[in-house]
Amino acid sequence: MAVQRAKVGNNGAKGGPLLLAIESSCDDTSAAVLEGFNVRSNLVAGQAVHNKYGGVVPELASRAHQQNIVPVVSAALAEAGVLPHQLDAIAFTLGPGLMGSLHVGVSFAKAMGLALNLPLVAVDHMQAHVLAHFIIDGDKPQPQFPFLCLTVSGGHTQIVQVDGPLSMAVIGRTLDDAAGEAFDKAAKMMGLGYPGGPIVDRLAKEGDASKFTFSPPKVAEHDMSFSGFKTSLLYLIQRESGADPGFVEANLPHLCASYQKAVVGYLLKKMAMAVTQTGIRHVALAGGVSANSALRGALTELGQRNGWHVFVPKFEYCTDNAAMIGCAAQFLLADGRTVGQNCVPFARGIH
Ligand code: KG4
Ligand code: ZN
Repeated sequence: MAVQRAKVGNNGAKGGPLLLAIESSCDDTSAAVLEGFNVRSNLVAGQAVHNKYGGVVPELASRAHQQNIVPVVSAALAEAGVLPHQLDAIAFTLGPGLMGSLHVGVSFAKAMGLALNLPLVAVDHMQAHVLAHFIIDGDKPQPQFPFLCLTVSGGHTQIVQVDGPLSMAVIGRTLDDAAGEAFDKAAKMMGLGYPGGPIVDRLAKEGDASKFTFSPPKVAEHDMSFSGFKTSLLYLIQRESGADPGFVEANLPHLCASYQKAVVGYLLKKMAMAVTQTGIRHVALAGGVSANSALRGALTELGQRNGWHVFVPKFEYCTDNAAMIGCAAQFLLADGRTVGQNCVPFARGIH
């Protein structure tokens, strides 16, 4: 098990409830300790077992979570210098996500809560991605309410209007694939590994983004579609590889750069429409795809040109991590929203 030591964002300030947070919704087992909105530890154990399958295999993910959860939680507590009995509450992801994976984190949290007689805080994974912007990190500025958040992950793509920490509404969503899926599926077609997003991002840096074009789909209002990008890439590869079997290999950076440009451009066009229609000029990015360097750069530039306040998460809080679960849980706990032992994970939708 490879535990990645994410940098601790604690700026030294003290205060607020001491929380253990657990995230196990997909293929990363993560545990964090937060004191208020300061992160004292945030560890993520990835699952290399999926790499050879080109995607997450749910049953293997559940088994890997079972192996990882005790060492990851122990390491997070040790790194934070916190003993279990010093905790004020235990937070965990209730959904959405893979049912088997969620059950591991939820069951572990319930058992630990019962043993230590601690309150439980159940967190919505997508809300946590948005609220990761409120993790204290030195004097990094935070968005003001209301703000718009483009939440782009491997399973979801949403434009969220955030009126308050516990008051948010999805005003646009993908009708088919998620943006992360569009990257992962494209990478798979080009014979690259999983997850594909970071690989496409890296290869795109060396490529000519204007070499190939992928037309954006026409979808009304703030909703989106990504499956057409994938199909266009498939047809391009099939057409060109017929004449030249070495086409993909010879054009890999150009294919990555052109595809990434199309997906990022489409996301930003939708975001610009949402800003115009809502009049909200505080704009944030969240979710795994917000680690994409082209998306981060292009949104920042668009914001500068249009006078928006743009908030891009710190790299380690983009992809799945337990610190964001702990951050969301602090808002819920402050509002008295704890749950009982009878809570059940949910795979889809909003809780
Ligand atoms: O939020 P996340 O860690 O897990 C989910 O909740 O889905 O997002 C994972 C997704 C994957 O599809 C991965 O390919 C994508 O985020 N991703 C990226 C980058 N880093 C991660 N996509 C594009 N560029 C990146 N640098
Ligand atoms: Zn996520």
